Amino acid sequence: MTLAIDATDLVKEYDDVRALDGLSLSVEAGEFFGLLGPNGAGKTTFINTLVGLVRKTGGEVTVFGNDVEDDYRAVRDSIGLAPQEFNVDRFFPIREVLMHKAGYHGVSEEEAGRRADEALSLVGIYDKRHTRFDWLSGGMKRRLLLARAIVTEPDLLILDEPTAGVDVQLRHDLWEIINRLNDEGTTILLTTHYIEEAERLCDRVAIMDAGRKVTVATPDELMERGTDTITVELRDPPTAAPPIGAEVADVEEVSMEGGRLVARANRGGRTAPRLLNALEARGHEILDIEISRTSLEEVFVELTEGREQGSEQGVPVAGEAR
Ligand SMILES: Nc1ncnc2c1ncn2[C@@H]1O[C@H](COP(=O)(O)OP(=O)(O)OP(=O)(O)O)[C@@H](O)[C@H]1O
Ligand SMILES: [Mg+2]
Repeated sequence: MTLAIDATDLVKEYDDVRALDGLSLSVEAGEFFGLLGPNGAGKTTFINTLVGLVRKTGGEVTVFGNDVEDDYRAVRDSIGLAPQEFNVDRFFPIREVLMHKAGYHGVSEEEAGRRADEALSLVGIYDKRHTRFDWLSGGMKRRLLLARAIVTEPDLLILDEPTAGVDVQLRHDLWEIINRLNDEGTTILLTTHYIEEAERLCDRVAIMDAGRKVTVATPDELMERGTDTITVELRDPPTAAPPIGAEVADVEEVSMEGGRLVARANRGGRTAPRLLNALEARGHEILDIEISRTSLEEVFVELTEGREQGSEQGVPVAGEAR
């Protein structure tokens, strides 16, 4: 199978920072892949290495089999990038911005005009097509970055925090658009601090920290690694928790909280019936039960905690979406 991205031992050193510290990562063609990590983890540096904005210090990286340096042109033509920072010529009408972009990648003028209109309609700012970039609202600017990224009909669409600071409606619109593109075969690489977004959209996510890969897995696999909480309401609850932690496999800890029995368990959905059986066998009558699964966000925090986070933008990395 062709790999959309294949990075091996990638290193990027700045004067005093090792932004990428031996990163190895591969993304399959057609995948919807998420890149998560605290501020400064190296996500944007990695992306910039792919598109030739950053020159790697060491290691290898290919995009659809093409080396990012030796086959720069082929790589650049296959990627559409919506960058984290706005880097659009602010005086130009946005339809022209898109046409320039398509033209740069070898699309004829007529075709470029058609694609520009199509992209602007898709992201919902067609009526602003003659407006210059700096007169757009913040959310419209985000929309334009997406339009510019897709106007070349890329095989790999890279979105570096596309939903930072956008409203709920726009976020859902963007999700729908990129999901559809992915269904049609476009490989997607997405970075986000809205962990819930990755949980919803991505086939697999990589968690990065300090220029390295901490883990790669599906969101479900990652959530399996966390601990779920099973809360059971009992008739005549005991004051002390019954010692069923030892009897029921996968239950790690049991306590009474506010008259309810709270069990911390792995694979809560599968463990709950066994927990209930054990309680009934001890003569407890069960009134109600609630299972709350660990979120990807909690697992993310566990995997990256202890590191300085969020200082750069004054925003906590996890929990931002709340
Ligand atoms: N041009 C540069 N010169 C020096 N250091 C840089 C440069 N660009 C990035 N860095 C450093 O490299 C590290 C990784 O930065 P990068 O922008 O890749 O992080 P990120 O994961 O995208 O973070 P964020 O979530 O804040 O966007 C940081 O310590 C950053 O300060
Ligand atoms: Mg970044």
